Order: sequence, then structure tokens, then C-alpha cells
Amino acid sequence: MRRRPVVAGNWKMYGSRAANASLVAGVLSGLAPRALRNVEVVVCPPFVYAAELSPQLQSANVGLGAQDVCAEAVQGAFTGEVAATMLREVGCSHVIIGHSERRALYAETDELVGRKTLSALAVGLTPIICVGELWEERDSGRTYEVLGHQLSAVLQTLDSDPAGLAGLDRCILAYEPVWAIGTGRTATPGQAQDVHAFIRGLISSRDAKIAQSVRVLYGGSVKPSNARELFEMSDVDGGLIGGASLKAEDFVAIVAAAELGSERTSCC
Ligand code: PGA
Repeated sequence: MRRRPVVAGNWKMYGSRAANASLVAGVLSGLAPRALRNVEVVVCPPFVYAAELSPQLQSANVGLGAQDVCAEAVQGAFTGEVAATMLREVGCSHVIIGHSERRALYAETDELVGRKTLSALAVGLTPIICVGELWEERDSGRTYEVLGHQLSAVLQTLDSDPAGLAGLDRCILAYEPVWAIGTGRTATPGQAQDVHAFIRGLISSRDAKIAQSVRVLYGGSVKPSNARELFEMSDVDGGLIGGASLKAEDFVAIVAAAELGSERTSCC
């Protein structure tokens, strides 16, 4: 099975109306129509800019993602939170869930990540669920244990939903080693492939078909210079891009690398 790669830009808390306008203009003019057919491209600005960027992105066939969503499925007294229904209403198609910065700086737990996933799925948003280990965890040989734990929590929450594990087929997973995020230190293609194969194996033990179809992105210091070798790995289906997504030229080059990577022959 050939999986369509995804390249998602996580703008984090960067941007302004002026900066966003020139970034989006640069990205849209740089993306070749062929690349857009072969690669799912998503841009995730801060919440407040989503609505105004939506028409332009939509008409260019680029997805719009949020960087977080409230776990509560029903609107209510949750000051500062944004509901999944609201994200849908302003044109979001995707949402990043459980980014390591949310986990580390805002104490998001595996359980909360699971609940957010359900609230996104309930309104038809595609969750981009992030998992990843700290350097100390990798260094002490605990990478698979940590990832297994993070992933199992999501699977368990999905199990508790009437739709069951089928919801996972509508999710995208992102392996983001915390030590590689914003550090300039990227996982080697081999390290990424090993973890991606582990993730697919873990899902396969529950549902072999979903394991083959679910896209698993790599994130952590992806740049034009290393994107292609990462995306050529058979279980790496594109990337979640932070810093390099703020430079139109770099982001476009990474999308082009995903398109080339998708031509790999070793795919499942
Ligand atoms: P980076 O960030 O590409 O700047 O390392 C990736 C991410 O945080 O999603």
C-alpha cells in the first residue's frame, strides 16, 4: 500500500498578519501543483489567524491545522479553550494534539491527549497526534517503553469510543523525539525508521490493516538538507515541521522532498 505523504508546518507561537501574509504567499507560489496532488500539505498557524488564512489555503488545496483543541466535546465555561466545532467552523481540517511543548510546558497527560483526539474526531478534524521520548529516556534505553505508553493511552481511549479503533484510521501520528525539536539535532534516518516501524508494529498487533494505512510523520529539526533521506525511509510518511516551516523556501523544499520520498520503492 502506498501512503500519501503529509508535510505539516507547525508555526508555534510565531507570526503576525504581515509576516503570515508573506509566508503564505511564498508557500503557495512555490508549491508545484503536482507536489500538491502527491503530498498532503498542512499549515498550522496560531488560533487567532486560522479564520483569515482559511479561504486562501482552501482554494490552494492546502490544509489548515490548529495547534491544539479543547478536550471537552460540548461548548461551555472553559475560559481560554477552543472547541473542535469552532475549529471546523473557521475551516480547520487538522489539529496537532499532544505536542511535546504542550506535554512539557502545560502538563498535558496521555489521558488528556486521548480525550482531545476523540473531540477532534467527533467533528471530522484529522488529529496529528505527537509522541516522542526525551534524550534521557533514549539514553537509558527506554525509547520504546515511553512511546509504547504514550501510544497505548491513545489506543485505549479510542477503544472506549463506540467507533473503536477505527478512529485511528482517520488520525496521523507524528514521532517527534523531544531532543530533536528545535535543537538542530535530527534523528538519523535509521533511528527514525526503527521507531516508525515500532509504532506500526504496535498498531499492527491490534489492527494490521490500520497499521498499513496510518501515516506516521517524523518531526524534529527537519530541514531541506535532511528531509529527503528521512522521507525515503519506508515507514516515514512525511514530516511535522517547526522552524523550517517559517521560511517559505525551506517549507516548499521539504514538500518537494516528500514528493520524491514518496516514490520510494520499499513501501509496504
Ligand atoms: P522543529 O520543530 O522542526 O523546529 O524541530 C518540530 C515541531 O516542534 O513540531
